[in-house]
Amino acid sequence: MARTGKDINKAKELLAMGELVAIPTETVYGLAANALNADAVLKIFRVKNRPEFDPLIVHISSPDKLELYGEHIPEKAKDLAKAFWPGPLTLLVGKKNIIPDLVTAGLPEVGLRCPDHPLTRGLLEALDFPLAAPSANPFGYISPTTPGHVADQLGDRIPYILDGGPCSVGIESTIVGFDKEGGIVLRTGGLKIADIENVIGKVRLRIATSSNPKVPGQLQSHYAPKKKLHAGNLEQLLARYPAHRAGVLSFQKDRHAPFQYILSPSGDTGEAARNFFSGLRTLDALPVEFILAEYVPDTGLGQAINDRLRRASANRELD
Ligand code: TXA
Ligand code: MG
Repeated sequence: MARTGKDINKAKELLAMGELVAIPTETVYGLAANALNADAVLKIFRVKNRPEFDPLIVHISSPDKLELYGEHIPEKAKDLAKAFWPGPLTLLVGKKNIIPDLVTAGLPEVGLRCPDHPLTRGLLEALDFPLAAPSANPFGYISPTTPGHVADQLGDRIPYILDGGPCSVGIESTIVGFDKEGGIVLRTGGLKIADIENVIGKVRLRIATSSNPKVPGQLQSHYAPKKKLHAGNLEQLLARYPAHRAGVLSFQKDRHAPFQYILSPSGDTGEAARNFFSGLRTLDALPVEFILAEYVPDTGLGQAINDRLRRASANRELD
């Protein structure tokens, strides 16, 4: 069983030996390995049961490392790194050869991110290699936002969980790629699109919605709980499905359902994002047959929450 603790030196030792360590970030917990060691990276795919066509994000200690691991870096990528790193933003840029092909699933671009969490930044600064890390959940399941979430699902498969408390943002990073015309958002996430556009101007959205994704890993059924999830208007859903058999995920209002989780009583989408994955996990573990969830307002982090709700409610057969 994994030990959980705040010991950066222990995490460093294990990672240097090619072992896996779960690490806290401001978005979600990551399952980390030495990104320059293909054998260590392979363990991530095994432990998560993740297909090898799904590339991993590489976490770096500071914005200056962008040019150490990336190449052909557009000015707009540099501007975003300057404005938002450390933070919930992943930039897709040309991959330097030092990054093994396994990390990017053979793609010519690598996703780089400088995470904003004091423990993990301390760890990255102590290491002489960057960390490849997907979210620390079994492939296709809800991302973890506490050390307990990681221990529940991967505790018997990894040696150590670095305990950085609950994640302050709660949903994954926003992923931005570039072409000649400018920025393209491939996954909505913890950094708002409006904030990105304030720095580099209009971006296009290319969020994959099919089960046969153009961008590997952007599978439609990602983030899914084990129970069937129906997303929509809660009043309509509660009229259609028996409330006593449902786990109800409400944004703000109390629906007086026997099993309910309210994301933000004050109606704040940032608070809702922080609670979102915990709420789904809580309902998934209750004696309910299905989960009924409502879409949240599209403002702030609402768009990113709604994108995850759409994916979580997608046909489970796709998994
Ligand atoms: O907030 C986050 O981004 C968290 C924390 C741990 O940093 N990580 C995370 O990783 O969410 P993961 O693996 O669960 O999701 C990363 C997504 C995947 O859908 C993957 O396909 C995409 O990023 N991705 C990674 N590298 C890519 C690349 N080179 N080209 C296209 N997509 C990429
Ligand atoms: Mg993930």
